[in-house]
Amino acid sequence: MASNMLLAGVLALCFSVALASIVPVQDFCVGDPNGQASANGLACKDPKSVTPDDFSFSGLDKPGNTSNPSGSKVTSFNANQIPGLNSQGLSMVRVDYAPYGFNPPHTHPRASEIFAVLEGTIEVGFVSGVPELRHFKKVLNKGDIFIFPFGLIHYQKNVGKGNAVAIAAFNNQSPGMIPLAGTMYQSQPDIGDDIVARSFQLDQGFVKNIQAKQ
Ligand SMILES: *[C@@H]1O[C@H](CO)[C@@H](O)[C@H](O)[C@H]1NC(C)=O
Repeated sequence: MASNMLLAGVLALCFSVALASIVPVQDFCVGDPNGQASANGLACKDPKSVTPDDFSFSGLDKPGNTSNPSGSKVTSFNANQIPGLNSQGLSMVRVDYAPYGFNPPHTHPRASEIFAVLEGTIEVGFVSGVPELRHFKKVLNKGDIFIFPFGLIHYQKNVGKGNAVAIAAFNNQSPGMIPLAGTMYQSQPDIGDDIVARSFQLDQGFVKNIQAKQ
C-alpha cells in the first residue's frame, strides 16, 4: 500500500514536471519583439493592446521560391510571424519542392514533426539512433501524413513529375534546425577537414575544397 502510494506520488510528480514545461501559465503571452524581459520565448505584449490579428497570419498559400541548389524552400510560421504563437508550444512550416527538389538531412533538436503532403509525391525518411541506425522510408502522395520523431535526422525528396507542397507542424514554437551537411561544411570556424574527411570516409582535399566554397 505504502509503496503504491509512493509510486503514485512519483508518477504525479513526473507528470506535473512534464506538464510544467509545456503548458502555458496564462491565457496568452503575445510576443513583443521589442520587449525587454522574457523567460522562455519572447516577452509578452501588454494584454490590453492584443488584437485578433496577433493570432492570425495570411500567406500560407504563397509558394516559396525554389530556385536554389536544393530545389526546395522552407517558409516558417512561428512567433516572429504570428506573435500569438509565443509560449504556445507549436509552430509550422510550408515546404515547396521543384521537380527533383529535396530538403537535405537535418534534425530539429527541440521538436517532433507531423508532415502532410498537399500536392505531389514526396519520398520521406528518418534514421533511428545507434545501435540500429535503422532507415524508415516511405513515398507519400497528396493527403498522406508522416511523423518525424523527436530530434531524429530526416529528409524529403520530390519524386513526382511536377512541383510538390507540404505543410508540417512542430510541438515547439522554436524547434531549431540543424543541417547535417551544413554543420560539417559551413560552420565558422570550420570543423577540421581531417575530422570531417575521416567521419565521412572522404578525401581530405575534397572536404577542404567544399569548406572553402561555402
Ligand atoms: C527566386 O530566386 C532566384 C534566385 O535567388 C531569383 O533570381 C528570382 O528572381 C526569384 N524569383 C522570384 C519570383 O522571386
